[in-house]
Amino acid sequence: MSPVIDGPLAGQSSVCISILRLLPEWFGIEAAILNYEREIDHLPTFLARLDGQVFGFLSLKQHFPASAEIYVMGVRPEAHRRGFGRALVTATEAHARGLGIEYMQVKTLAPSCPDDGYIRTRTFYEAMGFRPLEEFKQIWDENNPCLILVKRL
Ligand SMILES: CC(C)(COP(=O)(O)OP(=O)(O)OC[C@H]1O[C@@H](n2cnc3c(N)ncnc32)[C@H](O)[C@@H]1OP(=O)(O)O)[C@@H](O)C(=O)NCCC(=O)NCCS
Repeated sequence: MSPVIDGPLAGQSSVCISILRLLPEWFGIEAAILNYEREIDHLPTFLARLDGQVFGFLSLKQHFPASAEIYVMGVRPEAHRRGFGRALVTATEAHARGLGIEYMQVKTLAPSCPDDGYIRTRTFYEAMGFRPLEEFKQIWDENNPCLILVKRL
């Protein structure tokens, strides 16, 4: 069965944070989770549901008229690789195109920091058509090098 995507919605931080807390391998820094909690409520957010249950979410941040960012997304761990992430990205991109957005970016942990979970994350984004642009050690910190990936919509 295909997921149903709802959105964009505001005020979704509580359901989204409950999913992030199931993903400590990716979201293990409490201060970062609290920051997401504050931000997500104000960001357009898409929810992926199956039989009424929320399995995943994606929050979008628009920086300029023609560019936006997949600010944060997550899928419940037992539901990985079942198409929720793809459905969320596809719906978000369709919405973004409708707003005239031409470029999408996403930030994730760079390959110079070995981490099995983030290898899978980068594989997912590349499968969605994103391409690595540049790695920065200044955006987060030296121990968490940030990779920016981009996609032309
Ligand atoms: C990354 C994430 C959002 C992807 O969502 P998902 O629902 O698991 O991904 P999908 O099932 O839609 O995968 C779509 C495609 O991505 C690729 N892909 C996804 N996971 C993969 C994996 N573990 N290994 C190889 N390819 C993978 C495949 O090409 C897949 O298509 P296919 O299954 O038809 O081959 C999800 O796994 C997740 O929540 N991960 C932890 C949190 C995270 O990384 N968030 C992003 C932080 S920057």
